[in-house]
Amino acid sequence: MIEETRFFDPNEQVSDEKEFTLRPKTLADFVGQVNLRRNLSVFIEAAKKRNESLEHVLFYGPPGLGKTSLANIIANEMNGHIKITSGPAIERPGDLAAILTNLSAGDILFIDEIHRLNRSVEEVLYPAMEDFELDIVIGKGPAARSIRLNLERFTLVGATTRVGSLSAPLRDRFGIIEKFDFYTPEELAKIVCRSSTLLDTPIGEESALMVAESSRGTPRIANRILKRVRDWSQVVSDGSISVDDVRASLDAMGIDTTGIDQNDRLYLDTLIKKFSGGPVGVDTLAASMSEESETLEDVIEPYLLQKGFIDRTAKGRMATALAYDYLGVPFKDTNKNQPTLF
Ligand SMILES: Nc1ncnc2c1ncn2[C@@H]1O[C@H](COP(=O)(O)OP(=O)(O)O)[C@@H](O)[C@H]1O
Ligand SMILES: [Mg+2]
Repeated sequence: MIEETRFFDPNEQVSDEKEFTLRPKTLADFVGQVNLRRNLSVFIEAAKKRNESLEHVLFYGPPGLGKTSLANIIANEMNGHIKITSGPAIERPGDLAAILTNLSAGDILFIDEIHRLNRSVEEVLYPAMEDFELDIVIGKGPAARSIRLNLERFTLVGATTRVGSLSAPLRDRFGIIEKFDFYTPEELAKIVCRSSTLLDTPIGEESALMVAESSRGTPRIANRILKRVRDWSQVVSDGSISVDDVRASLDAMGIDTTGIDQNDRLYLDTLIKKFSGGPVGVDTLAASMSEESETLEDVIEPYLLQKGFIDRTAKGRMATALAYDYLGVPFKDTNKNQPTLF
């Protein structure tokens, strides 16, 4: 499913240089997430004043909202180096030990998708996070012995789309836990303007806002749409991005200007037309969409919940009146008791 509409997949790993240049480098460049940014700047300043490393930080929230960018910014602001890895990439305890022993004081270790660390690796992480110590076993069988190594005072920054899947002992070892929210259209418009300057294609306020409103609250999507709009205006018109260019290219790409994408629509369609608006379990819904439940929970549902299109109830997912309205289907309140026949 997601493949067909790849354009919108905020999960897609982008290695292209442009995303790299669009990444904000300092806290001042980082738009939105006001509370999070304020908290973090206080923690960073305090740590710097005391000449200490920053406490371990956990970022969670849907993909494309700036977790990786902010991890890089922390390293910049703390004048440390950053080592970037991910949960699935660290297969054995020895892999993690090798990474940890190579860190210097004040370095940042960024572990993306930290909920996917396996248990034996996680256990090495506990004493490393808490006491900056590493217990390693050398040799095998009766000759095996355990030695303890001291580590430099590093900062672990973990990122995850599903904080609920993190084990409690791991979660408890983070001193700072921060949630990322979807961006407002105004914030996204600011990001779009900044990116358009970096891409050397100026964009007017009105056009920027149009791109912003089509971007599902997500900077990664906003930047991607901006690049397509830029292509359009360079090929079809004179190279500067006009409101008409934006409208025409969004149309041509089949992008809904409410920020709802094809996957969101398929979700609502399935929920309302196949399951009479719910309640239906997420696994059933996922199977019916040929999609993973995880993708529904991590990527699709957070935005629909935020828009007020769905409810999560004990019995399962339910469509709200807003969702019916959006699809143009008359609303049936399945929450009320069904009328009896007599
Ligand atoms: N607050 C922000 N301000 C400006 N650009 C942002 C912001 N957050 C994200 N971006 C842009 O979106 C892209 C994706 O962000 P990223 O940090 O990779 O998200 P995540 O790690 O949460 O999936 C970045 O390359 C950057 O260009
Ligand atoms: Mg990331």
